[in-house]
Amino acid sequence: MTPEQIKADYIDKIERVGSEKELADLKAAIFGKSGVITELTRSLKDLPNEEKPAAGKKINDLRVEILALCDKKEAELHRAAIERQLNSETLDLSIDKPFRTVGAIHPINQIKKRLTDYFVGNGYIVYDSPEIETDYYNFQALNIPPDHPARDMQDTFFIGDGMLLRSQTSSGQVRLMEKVKPPLKMICPGRVFRADDDSTHSPVFHQMEGLVVDKNVTLCDLKGALEGFAKFIFGGQTRIRFRPSYFPFTEPSVEVDVSCFNCGGEGCRVCKNTGWIEILGAGMVNRKVLANCGIDPDEYQGFAFGLGLDRITMILCEINDIKLLWENDVRFLRAFRGQGGDK
Ligand code: DAH
Repeated sequence: MTPEQIKADYIDKIERVGSEKELADLKAAIFGKSGVITELTRSLKDLPNEEKPAAGKKINDLRVEILALCDKKEAELHRAAIERQLNSETLDLSIDKPFRTVGAIHPINQIKKRLTDYFVGNGYIVYDSPEIETDYYNFQALNIPPDHPARDMQDTFFIGDGMLLRSQTSSGQVRLMEKVKPPLKMICPGRVFRADDDSTHSPVFHQMEGLVVDKNVTLCDLKGALEGFAKFIFGGQTRIRFRPSYFPFTEPSVEVDVSCFNCGGEGCRVCKNTGWIEILGAGMVNRKVLANCGIDPDEYQGFAFGLGLDRITMILCEINDIKLLWENDVRFLRAFRGQGGDK
């Protein structure tokens, strides 16, 4: 075929093509192995040399023209196919489901918020202390030197180079006292880490540390502060009691119990028939800790307390497996929606 014949014949064919498949076949018939333009190009070799440039140019112009036409047709067919698809599909907007479920604040965060509100309302600042800590802040400055038996109370994750995952928020006491001189009142809520894993212990859990340092602070002040807190959380009838205990960073140290909010002290399932529930550790800040932070223990005294947020949450929500707090089961979370602070 001559270029003129090809033009006359195929331009019209391209125009009339009705589907992408037909167009692909036509392109094969033109540009394929034995397509008409391919043949034409092949026939160039039979022409006398002086005619070759002009004939070659003609074929090339034809190829460019036909390719452009094919591209245009392809775009048209593609648009038409999309249009057909859009016209044939419908959206069912009547689906019988709420668009999204309403979330709930995690019970631990509800409790944390409630406690934080209480302490902030009583003049405490909220202090955020690092989770990756040095041995010094987590232990040594708190009067727990290397090899001290008290280290066995906490199975710590050491991560090398004197660094560890903090095992207690008490490290926040030291960090704050180094920076801020008394009088000071702070709480330090946050995650802590220990190699513990059973139904009441998780390797990651939450504590809230409290610290008050001023002149003439006594154990009575500690008791008053904790009594107010206990009444706020567990109800106005709540009583507290101190039992002697030991922590290296407080002297004297106490374990604090609250009267059972469920039975009022009679004995029930929640308090394991004792009438009391242990909620935190506390004490007067050890003179050595004050001195380690550059505070003169003859001039200032302080009290500190540390409570487990997961433990208080478990008590209040009456759950006995700590894993429930971590499993992210929405049915569990929904059950505690709207309780205590989730407003
Ligand atoms: N840091 C202690 C622990 O994790 C809890 C604690 C006890 C904190 C007594 C205190 C305190 O501030 O005075 O077991």
